[in-house]
Order: sequence, then C-alpha cells, then structure tokens
Amino acid sequence: MARVKKIKKDNGFYGIGIINNSNELNIGTLWRSAYILGASFIFTIDKKYKPQSSDITAAWTKIPLYHYNTFSDFKDHLPFSTKIVGVEMGELSISLGMFQHPASAVYLLGNEQCGLQTNITQQCHSLIKLPGDFSLNVAVAGSIVMYDRITKECSVSHPQSLNA
Ligand SMILES: C[S@@+](CC[C@H](N)C(=O)[O-])C[C@H]1O[C@@H](n2cnc3c(N)ncnc32)[C@H](O)[C@@H]1O
Repeated sequence: MARVKKIKKDNGFYGIGIINNSNELNIGTLWRSAYILGASFIFTIDKKYKPQSSDITAAWTKIPLYHYNTFSDFKDHLPFSTKIVGVEMGELSISLGMFQHPASAVYLLGNEQCGLQTNITQQCHSLIKLPGDFSLNVAVAGSIVMYDRITKECSVSHPQSLNA
C-alpha cells in the first residue's frame, strides 16, 4: 500500500490520535488513513488500542503507536515545539479551510459519544472544525484534517497556475 511521498524536506511532521476512544473499528480506519496520508506517528490517550481488521495496513507496524495514560502524560511527552490541534466542533474552533497547519503538530480527536471535553480543549494550542451541523464519524473527521494538511503543503510547493 503506497504512502504519500514527502512533499518537501522542511514541512515538519504530524501525529494524530484520540482520547478515550469508544469504537475500535473506527480507530483502525483512522490508523489506516494516518499511515497512508503521511503521519509520522499515531497515539491513544486513556484507552489502549487493540488491533482491528479495519486497519489493513497494520499502521502500528510501520509508524510508532504511542499510548499515554492521561492527557497530562501526553502533554508532558510532546515532541519539542509541537502544537496540539484539537479537532472539535464549537464556537472557539477555526474552520479547517481557514486554518494554517503548524509545521509540527499533533491532531487530537475526541470520543464518539462525548467528543473532546472542555478541560482538554482549553489546553489545546488551536481548535479546528469541519463544515456541517452534525458531527462526522471520528475516522472521517481525522482523515479530512490530514488530507487538508497535505493538500495545503502541496499547494505551497506546487502553486496552481491559471495558464497551465
Ligand atoms: C462523533 S464525534 C463526537 C460527537 C459528540 N456527540 C459531540 O457532540 O461532541 C467524535 C469526534 O470526531 C471529531 N469530529 C466529528 N465531526 C467533527 C466536526 N464537524 N468538526 C470537528 N471535529 C469533528 C471530533 O474529534 C469529535 O470529538
């Protein structure tokens, strides 16, 4: 299964993960997207991941899968100068289309039932939301965020020309 090629040398890196996941199949789908869309690592906070058939890439055999017992453990072990981007609907969240992704970022998704709690969103460096009045499946939301990141990296290094 092919992975996106590195687009430019200095485009930083990103990880993606979930806190207190409640649907293992969804997380398998998220890991599959993460590996294919160029994530450097994946992570869980609170509840550990058990391998799922929905991740046909077995992403955790190819990129590190980290586990943190608590959010504060996760924060304490963030890579140097890396920003936490909370992915959650809400008035304080920036629309994804307007968002400039940090060079080094971790994208944090919430639980299928209750989303990211306020005590967590308050500690994120940025919050982003996807369009729509209803929440998306968590793996779909994460996949769109990753696609947005790599598309924006792509358009910086290969600007569109009107006279192509
Ligand atoms: C199914 S949603 C949680 C829904 C929960 N019932 C709520 O209202 O908060 C699971 C996770 O997917 C992500 N998500 C889904 N739709 C989203 C959207 N439109 N914008 C941002 N994040 C979204 C968030 O990380 C959210 O915590």
